[in-house]
Amino acid sequence: MKRLLSLVLVLGMLLGLTSLALAQGPSGELEIFSWWAGDEGPALEALINRYQELYPDVEVVNATVTGGSGVNAKAVLKTRMLGGDPPDTFQVHAGQELIGTWVIADRMEDLTFLYDEEGWWDQFPQGLLDLLSTEDGIWSVPVNIHRSNVMWYVPANLEEWGVDVPQTWDDFLAVCPTLQEAGVVPLALGENWTVNHLWESVALAGLGPDGWNALWAGEKSWTDDDVVAVWETFGQILDCTNEDAPSLSWQQAVDMVVNGEAAFNVMGDWAAGYMTTTLGLEPGEGFGWAPSPGTDGVFMMLSDSFGLPVGAPNRDATIAWLRLLGSAEGQDLFNPLKGSIPANLNSDVTNPDLYNAYSRSAAEDWASNTIVGSLVHGAVANERFMNDFATVMEIFLSSRDAVAASNAAQAVAVQAGIGG
Ligand code: GAL
Repeated sequence: MKRLLSLVLVLGMLLGLTSLALAQGPSGELEIFSWWAGDEGPALEALINRYQELYPDVEVVNATVTGGSGVNAKAVLKTRMLGGDPPDTFQVHAGQELIGTWVIADRMEDLTFLYDEEGWWDQFPQGLLDLLSTEDGIWSVPVNIHRSNVMWYVPANLEEWGVDVPQTWDDFLAVCPTLQEAGVVPLALGENWTVNHLWESVALAGLGPDGWNALWAGEKSWTDDDVVAVWETFGQILDCTNEDAPSLSWQQAVDMVVNGEAAFNVMGDWAAGYMTTTLGLEPGEGFGWAPSPGTDGVFMMLSDSFGLPVGAPNRDATIAWLRLLGSAEGQDLFNPLKGSIPANLNSDVTNPDLYNAYSRSAAEDWASNTIVGSLVHGAVANERFMNDFATVMEIFLSSRDAVAASNAAQAVAVQAGIGG
């Protein structure tokens, strides 16, 4: 009898242990590396909070390196990756920033198994899947879609100044002196990368979507007349911006518009996230938006994604993280706070209780516009080109010589292997 009792006890313990092991999710530390610090943090934090509810045994380290568009984070990441110290997962833009930097260097794990298991092949737009894939696999999971070519303003201020939203850059240049005479900065600008950000909207307007795409396919020369003309227009636009631009973050440039110091700002729609989530403004009332001049009907996209680096210390916890951030549930937690639209097609983007008027209009444009990729945010060119393009921009800013900038950009494109 005694023996039977102990057998039952042992069996019971074994059963208990097995079910505990089965119920147990991942544990240990999960380091999520991104540049979503401070003002940029709430959307990521919402996703992390949900992850912690689902996986209380994982200790999440939200490792951020501040600096818009990842200028500083990418440098830190590079040092860590090359030094054999990858985080468990990191923010990386869909497109060439992912493929041309980390995938060609064999630093990422193929996530085909995850897309199979989650049924994601039908849940993301094909164009986006293409940006994440090579012939050998798919290399990260997108959490959003942002739009780069947006012009922001405050409707009541424009009314007071008697200014309309410019449809073209010529319209803008025509109102520039009027605004300057009224003591208003026509176009608020921030630190270096935001100058490049402005440039891509001006280039898209000057070249159109076909010309823009042809540049990245290596089918169009940077020395063509219309590209030279883009630099010329760009120079005139810069004359309508604030002198302290280099010392301002993108948020501070947005603040200038909100505070009525400036009329317009061209920035990606994380600006909508900032104005709604951080500043508490109402889309349409507190701020208005339009496609950047000359780009109506074109959506210049970028997508933030996360992957699984080779040698990630906590693979299981990372896979659980990727499952959440790719799911419709995860995307509906993240995107309403971020200003982006969900990439997952099963998300609830038409729900007005979840997504504000700006996001819903962006989703409509995404569905109906011509889509092109952003340069500054990693979609169309590899890191080599991006770094060298910063030098091209310096050449232009110091010389204001459109031909010199075009020639330099052409040389850089050839060196970076654009078009083969
Ligand atoms: C972009 C990124 C956005 C936002 C922005 C400003 O590169 O894709 O999510 O963070 O930079 O930092």
